[in-house]
Formats: sequence, C-alpha cells, structure tokens
Amino acid sequence: MTSTFVDKIGAYVGQEIEIKGWAYNFRSSGKIFFLQFRDGTGRVQVVYSKANLSEEQWAALESVRLESSVVVTGTVKPDRAGTGFELDGTSFRAIQIAPDDYPIGKKDHGPDFLLDMRHLWLRSEKQWAIQRVRNTVINSTFAYLNENGYIKIDSPILTPNACEGTTELFEMDYFELGKAYLSQSGQLYLEAAAMSVGRCFDFGPVFRAEKSKTRRHLTEFWMMDAEAAFVEHEGNLAIQEGLICRIVADVLAKNAHELKVLERDVEPLKKVQAPFVRMTHAEAVKKLRELGSDIGDMDDLGGDDETILTKQHDKPIFVEKYPAVVKAFYMKRDPQDPTRVLNADLLAPEGYGEIIGGSQREDDHDALLARIKEHALPVDQFQWYLDLRKYGSVPHSGFGYGLERIVGWICGVQHIRETIPFPRLINRLTP
Ligand code: 4AD
Ligand code: MG
Repeated sequence: MTSTFVDKIGAYVGQEIEIKGWAYNFRSSGKIFFLQFRDGTGRVQVVYSKANLSEEQWAALESVRLESSVVVTGTVKPDRAGTGFELDGTSFRAIQIAPDDYPIGKKDHGPDFLLDMRHLWLRSEKQWAIQRVRNTVINSTFAYLNENGYIKIDSPILTPNACEGTTELFEMDYFELGKAYLSQSGQLYLEAAAMSVGRCFDFGPVFRAEKSKTRRHLTEFWMMDAEAAFVEHEGNLAIQEGLICRIVADVLAKNAHELKVLERDVEPLKKVQAPFVRMTHAEAVKKLRELGSDIGDMDDLGGDDETILTKQHDKPIFVEKYPAVVKAFYMKRDPQDPTRVLNADLLAPEGYGEIIGGSQREDDHDALLARIKEHALPVDQFQWYLDLRKYGSVPHSGFGYGLERIVGWICGVQHIRETIPFPRLINRLTP
C-alpha cells in the first residue's frame, strides 16, 4: 500500500493509502467514527464504520483523544462538499494516545495562555498556515535575490560593536576580549563582502534590546540584509520593489489555502504591484500634519504615523530622504540637501508600517570618518569598515527587511509574535 501525505492524496482517488499524523478532532455515533486528521501537509476527514474494522482497531479508535498520534489507512474519495477529499477508513493504529486534557480547545484563549502553550499552539491550523506562508516568503526571497545576481553571505552574530544604535544592544562578556554584542544587522559585514562578490545578502536572526512593547517589535527577529556595489538610491528602491512584488505574488500563487485559513482578504495583496507610492520625509510630515499629527519637521516617523500614512494608499509606500539626525551614521547624505540622507523606509499598506529600511551608504572615507566621530563611535573598531572606503570605494546601497513584519502583513495578523515559531519579547523568553 502507498504511504503518502494529505497534500498528495488527490492523485490516489479510488485507491487505498496510508498516512501518518495526528487526530485533531473526532466524533462518534457509536457505529460511525469521524476522525479529523492532520499530517503536517494538510487536513482530511477519515470516516470509519464499525462494521469494517476489527474489534481491536475499533476499540483503539474509540480511545483516541485530541492530538493522539495515529496511522490511518483508507480509500480516497471526493468529500461531500466536492472541493476536497476524504478517506473511507480501512484500518487504524494508534502510535501514542494522548491524555484527555489537551490544553488548547475550541474556546477563546487569551494571548498569554496561547504563548505559554506555544509548543502546542503551533499545531493549530492558523499557526500552521502562518508558518507555511513564512516558508514561502523565505524561499521567494532567496529565489529573487539569486536570480538578480545576489549570493548568500553569512554575517556573524557575535560582534564587537553596534550597527544601528548603541542603546539597543544585547551585551555579554567575551573571554579576555571584553564585551561582545549580539548582531542587530549584518549590514556592515555585507558591505565588505559586496566589494568581493558584487551583490550579496544574509538571512538570519538579529537582536534588539530596545524596550519596545508594540505589536511590531520582537527582541529576536529574522532579518534579510541585501547589499550591492554600484547600485545607488534609485536602483536600491527598484530592487526592493521587485522583491516585495515577487514575494506577494508567490504567496498568492502558492498559499491560497493558507490565506483562506487565515481569513485574509487577498484583494489588497493583489494590488501590491509596481510602481509603489513614493514620498519624501518632508512630504510625509506635511501630509501627517494635515491629518492632525503634531510631528516636527525633523522628527522620525512613529509607528502611529506610519499606520496613518499607509491607510491613505493601497500600495506600499517608500518614504525617502529622512533627516540625517534620526538615521544611522553610515547613510550617505543627499547632495541636494545635506541635512537629509539617501534612504528609504518601505511601509506596508493596511496600517502595517515599516517592513524595510535601506539606504545608499557613505562611500567617501573622510565623510564617513566624520560621521563615526559625530556619533561618538569608537574609530578603532571601525577601522576595517573605513578600509572599504580606502581600497576601491564604490557607490553602493542596500536594505534590510524584517521577516516577521512581512509575514505579519501578508497573513493579516495583528501582532508579529504569531509569525515567529518561538517569539522573544521583552517579557517572554519561554517556551
Ligand atoms: O530599519 P532597520 O533597523 O535597518 C537595519 O538594520 C539596516 N542595517 C538594514 C540594512 O540596510 N541592511 O531594520 C530593518 C528591518 C525594519 O524595516 C523592520 O522590518 C525590521 O527590520 N525590524 C524589526 N522587526 C521586528 N522587531 C524589531 N524590533 C525590529 N526592528 C527592526
Ligand atoms: Mg528602520
């Protein structure tokens, strides 16, 4: 008999097959037993009738409790709705019968309870769907970048200094060498690698110790940093636009079922097409003031500002040329207005806000040295980074995305803690 998976059973209509998985629900009339079965690839109902099963197998079936692990065999047939399949059960075997106290039930549980139960909550259908979308976003990112000449370069997680801002660092003692910090972004290392391979990206966990307790902040999250030699501000935005369009198109094509499970309205996602909306920081501030915000000319945009702006448009928005004072030291100044930088934040629609931060990098040795000093960063620690501007400096640009922010937006979930398998928040380190 063929052993297969739920997502493959359509190829076996009329045939008897075996699948291994878990019982996520069940009900019995005493003669007919409806087993709601899942195997990781999907869900299917297995209908057993007592008349067709040995006494031992029927008894085993009746002993099933939620989330017991089981092996089922049955004949594949179209289900009653005509939209999927079900199995006419032919045999049943329990691998392990779970006790009758599975903690997650049908009733509404609070978020704290569910997060405490994260190791089990991951099995719930919506959580399953989110992880499948996340997988597509990751694969789609690798595909797009590889197709556009980027190679993957792994940046270190243990670092001697800050990339983004010194206040957000997780610090630890590092043998005889003093302090080490968990990486906030691999960007600076990718800039070095880009001068070797031209275009590169990394993908891995990064860490931020900022005490932000919002639906957009994790202390550990997955970032993709991309960096390219000879790409300037305009080119940088075009690459980001292409990447986001590709990711959304792939999810729409590959995860229609998952988006349905998540009750995600796909119409707004279908509108994610180039060209995206573009506005300067100055224009964004003007618009926000019209909408009632008290944001100052040279202020950073807050989460609420981003939410308000994105509700004005149904496409992602690039907000470019922020004041230099609110951005990182490495960003290149705008030659038209040296108080501003050649950067852009990409804001996702429907109120989701920043999903990408990127910029053209300062490529002039002396200008960069001046910035490092202005930001009171240790010049000796940045000597290697300055070397990149000494030996064959070229204009270059890059950006970094927050995987959980992108997945949260595409899945339409409220808080990004649901998009990472085991979220780390300022008040949560378990399970
Ligand atoms: O805007 P950020 O801080 O940019 C950088 O770190 C650059 N070095 C990236 C680069 O140019 N290579 O972070 C990039 C993205 C943000 O746009 C956001 O999507 C996400 O990372 N992000 C977070 N996601 C979850 N929790 C947090 N605390 C995040 N902080 C940033
Ligand atoms: Mg940012």
